[in-house]
Amino acid sequence: MSIVYARRTAKFNAAHRLHNPAMSDEWNLATFGKCNNPHWHGHNYTLEIVVAGEPNPETGFVVDLAELKQIIEERIVSKCDHRNLNTQVDFLAGKMTSTENFAIGIWHQLVDHIPSGKLHCVRLHETDNNMVEYFGD
Ligand code: NI
Repeated sequence: MSIVYARRTAKFNAAHRLHNPAMSDEWNLATFGKCNNPHWHGHNYTLEIVVAGEPNPETGFVVDLAELKQIIEERIVSKCDHRNLNTQVDFLAGKMTSTENFAIGIWHQLVDHIPSGKLHCVRLHETDNNMVEYFGD
C-alpha cells in the first residue's frame, strides 16, 4: 500500500462575529477580542483539503484535483466567499463561527463528496498565524 496525501487549496474571505449571548458583554470582549466587534469584521481564509489514497493505476491520481477543485468551489467557496458566516451560511447556522467549528462544518460538507480516496484533513487558516486542523471523528 502506498498511501499518498493530495492537497488542494482554496482562498476566500468572509465576515463573522464571535459572541456568546449567554455571557456578558465584558466576558465576550475579554474572550473574543477583535472577533467580538459588534459591527462584524472579515478574515481572509485559506482552506486546505487533504485527500488520502492509493494512486489509481489508470491515472496515477489519488483524486482528480480539477474535480476536487470544482467540489470545493460548489460546496464551500460559493457558499462562504464574501458572505457573513453567522447569518448566510447554512451549514454554520446556530453555531459559534470559530475556525474550529468552521473546519468541522467544511468536513461534513465534503466528506461524502470526495470523488476518490478518502477525506483525510480539513486545514483552515483564519490568519497567517492561526490555523486549525480537523481529521474527522
Ligand atoms: Ni474573527
